[in-house]
Amino acid sequence: MSFKNKVVLVTGASSGIGAVTAILFAKEGADVVIVARNENKLKKVAQDCAKFGKYPLVIKADVSDDDDDRRIINDTIEKFNKLDVLINNAGIVRFGPILDGQITDQYDEIMKINVRPVLRLTSLAAPYLIKTKGNIVNVSSIAGHTVTDQMAAYSVSKAAVINFSRSSALELARHGIRVNVVSPGPVNTNIFVNAGLPLKVEDFGIGTAFNRASAPEEIADVIMYLASDKATSVTGTDIVADNGYLLVK
Ligand SMILES: NC(=O)c1ccc[n+]([C@@H]2O[C@H](COP(=O)([O-])OP(=O)(O)OC[C@H]3O[C@@H](n4cnc5c(N)ncnc54)[C@H](OP(=O)(O)O)[C@@H]3O)[C@@H](O)[C@H]2O)c1
Repeated sequence: MSFKNKVVLVTGASSGIGAVTAILFAKEGADVVIVARNENKLKKVAQDCAKFGKYPLVIKADVSDDDDDRRIINDTIEKFNKLDVLINNAGIVRFGPILDGQITDQYDEIMKINVRPVLRLTSLAAPYLIKTKGNIVNVSSIAGHTVTDQMAAYSVSKAAVINFSRSSALELARHGIRVNVVSPGPVNTNIFVNAGLPLKVEDFGIGTAFNRASAPEEIADVIMYLASDKATSVTGTDIVADNGYLLVK
């Protein structure tokens, strides 16, 4: 799948699924824009992208900050004059009981990172995506399809991403923009470590029909398919890549 002459922006590209996705797009010839807060991790991902020929545009930004969101899109257009693909991947996970009184704090924190930037970046990027007949891929989760004990705020956020994706797919279709979702099951990344949680993704993988968790590369492949010209008739779709987790749940 060639992405030569395409500009692809990946949020949450300093780690896990986003990092691997950015590198895969770079391998396929895209001009890649990588966004996250941790500059050192971003530099490492940038070096991995550069092995395929081009150094990406690195933007240190917090997607929960409105000004940063505007800067992300402005810097992208300033550098490349266009945008073809927006991948809203940045996200955090939190655990906690509803009864401890902290649920609304957790909800506010999660929605600010997992949901609000998806709406804002979609809105800021759309005028440029109209020009390129581009597309958006949003990373949700099986948590948006089902429930897990003490993950209410995260589940709400991921269900919101799915619903917003369908809403924006409908509204932006008249402008030729496609919007799709990938909902991964357990993926072997540092998501729990990054959240300071003593949990292992592999343990969730045991609950899948295939008795395994995905590698981030498997999710990047699905993202790339949805972003590609192989998927020109696909919009408003949510591809679940979960090793059959929802089948056995
Ligand atoms: N791993 C799984 O099992 C799994 C399953 C289903 C869905 N997902 C979803 O997949 C996406 C990627 O997760 P992952 O597993 O790759 O986790 P990860 O390794 O922890 O990566 C998360 C990325 O999001 C970035 N990020 C977090 N908050 C940010 C903020 N405020 N501003 C900018 N960037 C921010 C992080 O970068 P910085 O910290 O440098 O900012 C990091 O690059 C998330 O949306 C997650 O919910 C993961």
